[in-house]
Amino acid sequence: MCGIVGYVGEPKEKQAKKIIIEGLKRLEYRGYDSAGIALYVDGVFETRKHVGGLENLEKIIGDEKFNSHIGLGHTRWATHGAPSDANAHPHSNEDNTVTIVHNGIIENYLELKEVLAEKHGVKFKSETDSEVIAHLIGINYEKEGDFLKAVHRTVDMMRGAYALVAVCSHEPDKIIGVRKDAPMIAGIGKGCNFIASDIPAFLKYVREVLIIENNETVIVTKDDITILGSDRKPVSRETMHISWDVDAAEKGGYEHFMLKEIHEQPEGIRETLTKRIREDGMINLDGISMTKEDIDGFNKVYIVACGTAYHAGLVGKHAIEKMARIPVEVDVASEFRYRDPFVDEKTLFIAISQSGETLDTLAALREAKKKGARVFSVVNVVGSSVARESDDVLYTWAGPEIAVASTKAYTTQLICMYLIALFMGKVRGTIDEKYYNEILSELKAMPEKMKTLLAQEDKIAKVAKKFHRKENVFFIGRGPDCGVAYEGSLKLKEISYINSFAIAAGELKHGTIALMEQDTLVIALDTQDCLFEKMLSNIVETKARGAYVIAVAKEGHRDIEVEADYVIYIPDCRDEVSPILSVVPLQVFAYYVAKERGCNIDKPKNLAKSVTVE
Ligand code: G6P
Repeated sequence: MCGIVGYVGEPKEKQAKKIIIEGLKRLEYRGYDSAGIALYVDGVFETRKHVGGLENLEKIIGDEKFNSHIGLGHTRWATHGAPSDANAHPHSNEDNTVTIVHNGIIENYLELKEVLAEKHGVKFKSETDSEVIAHLIGINYEKEGDFLKAVHRTVDMMRGAYALVAVCSHEPDKIIGVRKDAPMIAGIGKGCNFIASDIPAFLKYVREVLIIENNETVIVTKDDITILGSDRKPVSRETMHISWDVDAAEKGGYEHFMLKEIHEQPEGIRETLTKRIREDGMINLDGISMTKEDIDGFNKVYIVACGTAYHAGLVGKHAIEKMARIPVEVDVASEFRYRDPFVDEKTLFIAISQSGETLDTLAALREAKKKGARVFSVVNVVGSSVARESDDVLYTWAGPEIAVASTKAYTTQLICMYLIALFMGKVRGTIDEKYYNEILSELKAMPEKMKTLLAQEDKIAKVAKKFHRKENVFFIGRGPDCGVAYEGSLKLKEISYINSFAIAAGELKHGTIALMEQDTLVIALDTQDCLFEKMLSNIVETKARGAYVIAVAKEGHRDIEVEADYVIYIPDCRDEVSPILSVVPLQVFAYYVAKERGCNIDKPKNLAKSVTVE
């Protein structure tokens, strides 16, 4: 979703244009539809913005010198007002003394707009909610004569979520940021400092990062970064050292980030496991404060997430219920928070999120916390909001995931689900030592098994080529395979724009089977030994109506060839952990279908990597 980069450096170096554009490129993966930049030149902040990709912005500023040492950049993902040059950020007030970029939504912007128009005669240049902020800061500056006070006075008038970053030509050597429910970080450079919505924006120049918390203000100059708490008094903040490299966020020879990330899964799984398995082979949850007493006290688990992370929750439910024998509900975050869910002190609430910044997930987490639940999260981005607001965090060590369609975050989320299930099962005494060890060694074998599976890439690519013109595809599965069917279907629709639909195979006959006709493509997950025959019957049902069935099955089930038209085999493994493998051919299939269709695989239309609005 929207990205912010602010930079202030040595006045003589005048590097702002180059550094900000570089930073915006690093944030492209978040998804955006227009981009803009404001640079301080000859006493004013000059703004240029353009709808579409950064290349459009670069075209219009390419020839302009813009020698500047301070500025702001923004990539916008439209909420209020269509993608257009006018609606792109930055926005300025009428006399161009204040310029802002904003991520989030100002809920009372209509009210504020009315006051600005009626009382102050403001003529708006855009349809955005954000523009009101620039005008308000400008008007408040006239009253206060001080940039910081003007920002605070403005923020006090706003309702909603924001990462707001502003500059003012009356005090041109500082950038002020205020954060509420939208990520913001500051970066400490050499002779320069940064503010941004995400670490990759400045990783080329910065290793030490300061996380800005909710309701805090940050004032960034070239020599200094000052953070003010919600009471507007200075607070001290420890720096966080970023050890991963900018190269980890590069394509490394692959045509797309998505393909690279698919191939990084064995390593991501190994990392996630290594961090949590001791030398004696037991799960180590060091740093997790949940005690045996806490675990014994839970009477239900709620897993709440969005998108792909929600699908990891669907599989996690099976694992936790089977191993820890405790009821698990899985919910999409945007639904959970508005239905007064049955959550109390005896509830373990598990939030799953790659970014740790998804607003719906964050809001659901807060709702659960308010009701007294113990909040545990499974997160990929270290130090993100979901991680910081949870009682305990189990990190996935997938590394930066750039492609909008999530792959390696998903499989590492599954690993965490199994670790939680095993750990809880052991503590609750619902699984014995033998079972615990068996599942653990199955998990440890996953990276190698996944590598052999990935070696079938070319074969799967050929199948994708054959079917890439289909306009409807159905995914079916039972038990944990059902969660995988949902994820496979999401992958396909996200990046290829094919209308795909996933359903529990047993539910087909209650309606969806009406859509089966000659050559309808059905992708059937049949990796559960205990449900193999039941699933086979469902395959036969679709075949009887003319469907073409691609099945995903274990090596040991060659008999499936009698019914399915084409079979992709995954290495043999126990039923419980097969979702870690069975999703991989679906990711590869979606990738090659989208490639055949000429789609923008890493940045699909209308989608964003990190969704920080409701
Ligand atoms: C967006 C992304 C999805 C992701 C979902 C949840 O919709 O496009 O890939 O699964 O958000 O994101 P999270 O960061 O919370 O896992």
